[in-house]
Amino acid sequence: MNSQQPLIALRELRRIYTTEQMETHALAGIDLEIHPGEYVAIEGPSGCGKSTLLSVLGLLDEPSSGDYILAGVPTTEIDAEEQARLRNREIGFIFQSFNLIPEMTVCENVELPLLYRGGLDARARRQAAEQALKRVGMDHRADHRPGQLSGGQQQRAAIARALVGKPSLLLADEPTGNLDTESGEQVMALLGELHEAGATLVMVTHNPAYAEQARRRLRMRDGRIDQDQTRS
Ligand SMILES: Nc1ncnc2c1ncn2[C@@H]1O[C@H](COP(=O)(O)OP(=O)(O)O)[C@@H](O)[C@H]1O
Ligand SMILES: [Mg+2]
Repeated sequence: MNSQQPLIALRELRRIYTTEQMETHALAGIDLEIHPGEYVAIEGPSGCGKSTLLSVLGLLDEPSSGDYILAGVPTTEIDAEEQARLRNREIGFIFQSFNLIPEMTVCENVELPLLYRGGLDARARRQAAEQALKRVGMDHRADHRPGQLSGGQQQRAAIARALVGKPSLLLADEPTGNLDTESGEQVMALLGELHEAGATLVMVTHNPAYAEQARRRLRMRDGRIDQDQTRS
């Protein structure tokens, strides 16, 4: 099963934040491979580097040293423009705080990644967005503004936005962190369905019950991965 090329390969990856007072080794040497179709949960105490790792994986932040190869592309060797293109093509990001644009309708929010990517006309973008919204059970709210939706509905819309470009990798940083239990469970069920349908998913969570949904669990401590368990 793991004979194919990894989707993600990290080698000796480090991210050091330097402020006047001190250096923080947010990532202190990470070696990791993730293969297409995996569902990986990342756990660990606050401040251990989970969000930093996800930002680097999402090409939202650059490592201080080490290699990150995404879908065969050595991301540290390409310029910012190529990184942006790669990010648009390969990655869907789901944030704890949804990050929907309040002035836009749900459908316009979902269309955004397609607009950035270019190549589709308005009608095709709208169609693709409606399809993604249907997939998360939110097509009936396409013309609402995010502020008119519950938290759980906003997160489902944000998942549609992450999905719309058919990325090879979905990254979720505490996707249920701002949700009540019921909406959180709905979002987790949806992520489980996406995984079943073939999505590669890397999710940070504080909730052990949610981490258990993932087949592979990574535990981080002080910028390192100190446990990597895959259940059979
Ligand atoms: N922009 C930043 N500047 C300086 N230090 C940062 C910055 N972002 C994160 N850190 C530090 O890096 C470490 C890891 O942070 P983070 O990845 O957010 O942890 P987690 O998501 O596991 O709570 C923490 O010590 C945090 O204070
Ligand atoms: Mg975090």
